[in-house]
Formats: sequence, structure tokens, C-alpha cells
Amino acid sequence: MNTLVIYAHPNPNSFNAAIKETVQQTLTAKGHDVRVRDLYELRFHPVLSSEDFVQFSQHQIPDDIRIEQEHIAWADHIIFIYPTWWAGTPAILKGFIDRVFTNGFAFQYTENGAEGLLKNKKAIIFQTTGQPKEFLELGNLPSAFQAVMNAGTLAFTGMEVLDHTVFYSVPYVSDEERKQMLEEVKQKVSCLA
Ligand SMILES: Cc1cc2nc3c(=O)[nH]c(=O)nc-3n(C[C@H](O)[C@H](O)[C@H](O)COP(=O)(O)O)c2cc1C
Repeated sequence: MNTLVIYAHPNPNSFNAAIKETVQQTLTAKGHDVRVRDLYELRFHPVLSSEDFVQFSQHQIPDDIRIEQEHIAWADHIIFIYPTWWAGTPAILKGFIDRVFTNGFAFQYTENGAEGLLKNKKAIIFQTTGQPKEFLELGNLPSAFQAVMNAGTLAFTGMEVLDHTVFYSVPYVSDEERKQMLEEVKQKVSCLA
């Protein structure tokens, strides 16, 4: 199986980095072919620009977008790993989605409405927060995380979202609880064929 990890955290000592390493080690040990796209390390340019629109209008895809689309096309499974920043994804990941999930690659419009073109792919999401679940629930944020990423983005492209796990209060819980979280990561990705 081909598994693509799309990873958006700038700090190699972060808990998100530990999630990425756990995913990579678990799936490699299971015989998956794993590719990691570390958006900060790649210095992925996240701003959908007027130059991009000029190229799209000429049926061309900028090289940096094409490379990411080739990785997505290769993948059977896509695993997204990111912290919550201002109630959403880090801007680099939002910009990756803006630029890479293009009309004609990720979706198309038909006479019956929008149709996802990434139907054969399954997604898993690991997201972390600083705030506790109970606090975020006061603003309905956990369900908003799911709605925006799962329904509004990945399902729109036709991907099947197998799981979206949010690890809460990550900087404030004990080391033992963080170890448990990594154990949960291991178990969740182990379910992938
Ligand atoms: C720019 C920025 C914005 C943040 N916004 C939120 C937020 O809206 N909600 C929240 O719960 N935590 C927020 N946090 C805290 C991070 O989500 C938290 O520290 C991170 O998920 C912990 O994982 P890490 O150690 O891998 O960074 C924010 C942190 C930063 C740096």
C-alpha cells in the first residue's frame, strides 16, 4: 500500500513530529511504502496567486503543485498531521489545499454539480490542540474541525475519511498521557490494510 503523510509543523521537537515519526515507523514496519511531505521542510509556497490562475487558465499546472499532485495520485492512503492554529490548520496546510486540490485534479463540475476525483483514496487525520476539549466545545469547535476538514474539504474531493482524531490539551497533559496518545496513533494506522 502507498501511504502519503502530509505534515505541517515547523518544530522537529514538537508532539506533531512524534506523531509523524510514529506513523512512519508503524507503517514502514507493516510493509507500506511511506512518503512524507513535510510542508515546512519543503518550504511549500502556500499562497494561491494571480500567476497560478494565469497558468490554470492556460491548462497548465505550476511545477510545485504538479509534484504534490503526483504524490497524491500515487497514494492509496493519505494521513494529515497538524496542530490547531487559530481554530484551523496552519496556514501552510490551508494554502497547500488551496493550491494543490485544483479543479480538474481534485474535483470537477458536472451538470449534476461538483464531483470529487480522488474517490479511491482513504484519509486519516491527526490534529492536536492546546485547549481542553470542554473549553473548545463551548464554541462548537470540535465539530467545526470535523466539518471543515472532513466534509468541506476531503469528502468534497471524493476521499473517504476513515478517522479524524483530535488530541486535546497536548502541551498540558502528562508524559504518560502523551505516550498513550502515540499508542492510539499506532493502533489507528495499524488498521490500514
Ligand atoms: C499560532 C498558534 C495558534 C494556536 N491556536 C490554537 C487554537 O486556536 N486552539 C487551540 O486549542 N490551540 C491553539 N494553539 C496551541 C497549539 O494547537 C498546541 O500548542 C499544539 O497543538 C500542541 O502540539 P505541538 O506540541 O506539536 O505543537 C495555537 C498555537 C499557535 C502557535
